[in-house]
Amino acid sequence: MMTRMFHLLLLIIIVRSIACSSSSTRPSTIKSLILATLGRSNDSLTFADFAQSYEKQYKSAEEIHKRFGIFMDNFHRIRSTNKKGLRFTVGINEFTDMSFDEFKSKRLIEWNTSVPLANRTRIYNLTDAVAPLMKDWRNDGIISPVRQQGDCFACWAFSAAGAIEAAKNKLENQTVTVSVRQLVDCSTADGGCEGGRTDSAFLYVARNGGINSDPSYPYTGTEGTCSFDPNHIAAKVTGVEWVHYGDEEDLEKVVGLIGPVSVGIQAEGDFLDYKGGIYRTTSCGDPGKLNHAMLVVGYGLDYFDDQPYWILKNSWGDGWGVGGYLFMEKGTNMCGVAYVANFPTVE
Ligand SMILES: *[C@@H]1O[C@H](CO)[C@@H](O)[C@H](O)[C@H]1NC(C)=O
Ligand SMILES: *[C@@H]1O[C@H](CO)[C@@H](O)[C@H](O)[C@H]1NC(C)=O
Ligand SMILES: *[C@@H]1O[C@H](CO)[C@@H](O)[C@H](O)[C@H]1NC(C)=O
Ligand SMILES: *[C@@H]1O[C@H](CO)[C@@H](O)[C@H](O)[C@H]1NC(C)=O
Ligand SMILES: *[C@@H]1O[C@H](CO)[C@@H](O)[C@H](O)[C@H]1NC(C)=O
Repeated sequence: MMTRMFHLLLLIIIVRSIACSSSSTRPSTIKSLILATLGRSNDSLTFADFAQSYEKQYKSAEEIHKRFGIFMDNFHRIRSTNKKGLRFTVGINEFTDMSFDEFKSKRLIEWNTSVPLANRTRIYNLTDAVAPLMKDWRNDGIISPVRQQGDCFACWAFSAAGAIEAAKNKLENQTVTVSVRQLVDCSTADGGCEGGRTDSAFLYVARNGGINSDPSYPYTGTEGTCSFDPNHIAAKVTGVEWVHYGDEEDLEKVVGLIGPVSVGIQAEGDFLDYKGGIYRTTSCGDPGKLNHAMLVVGYGLDYFDDQPYWILKNSWGDGWGVGGYLFMEKGTNMCGVAYVANFPTVE
């Protein structure tokens, strides 16, 4: 029965799991190529500078024309968004030559997050606990540098690895990093570079007896055969704990009193362009449409406008957002942050 459920779950997860990625490219004289193709104008110069600084590689004149069109649409949208006087700003990043629909179809997969509530186990009872007003686990030295997932839908593995290493580092006052690639290659309940889930990643590490250090099993952006090495275990997981479904107050208590939490969110529209400030939008938050995994590493309060926010670590490199991080409105379950929120227990 368990095995059949497991295989059924495996199928569901492989077919519909979260995924996400980011692009990577190589240098060339792309700037002069673009100017030769498009002619010299302020717009083509802006685009050529963008392509140069993100080391884009466009293979044909058609592609240059297509990317230029998309880039200018995004560029104008970014400018007009920044004129609206919102609490956050957007800006150019490596994704600005992609339309959101394209990004979504290639990098974000809608994922069936339904785990029966009864199966969302919890040993911590924080009913009477009081969370601190603010918490930023980066100040405790337990959070590893922001990573870059590249062309592999492994946001789930980055989020899970970040949660495991934070829990381990907090427990033992260490600075270990754990292998994202091991989760991608070895967690058979997950879909590797096709997507996966953080809860099943934690359970895999628990069953497996540990996870390697990141340096001993480094990330490559591809999926390969499992090469777990029992001699290089950096952390051991004992189980997975769930934040109460959709309950941001519970999420605050867990983050404030226990540690970082892996979450699923729905990334839509200008999420891709996020550059700073406290993000909010009206176009996300459907619990059936979560498509990206991140790691909540803290929360705070902007005193100027009395605005609480979450601090989330992404895996799109440190060029995205604020050094790779997102500040997001807290208190409205923005983008569904508290629906699928879990964390590992470690030993
Ligand atoms: C191009 O940019 C320059 C300098 O920013 C500006 O003076 C000029 O008016 C711009 N030309 C057009 C056509 O927008
Ligand atoms: C998600 O999975 C659950 C249980 O595994 C199933 O009952 C439900 O129909 C699925 N939802 C979708 C939209 O596929
Ligand atoms: C959920 O719990 C039920 C009974 O407690 C069990 O039969 C089922 O296998 C569990 N499902 C998952 C996905 O763990
Ligand atoms: C958690 O603790 C509160 C009071 O401290 C209690 O009322 C509640 O039943 C406990 N919940 C669980 C699941 O043990
Ligand atoms: C944690 O480790 C750091 C450096 O290794 C050390 O300076 C610090 O005192 C340690 N803290 C505790 C609580 O042991």
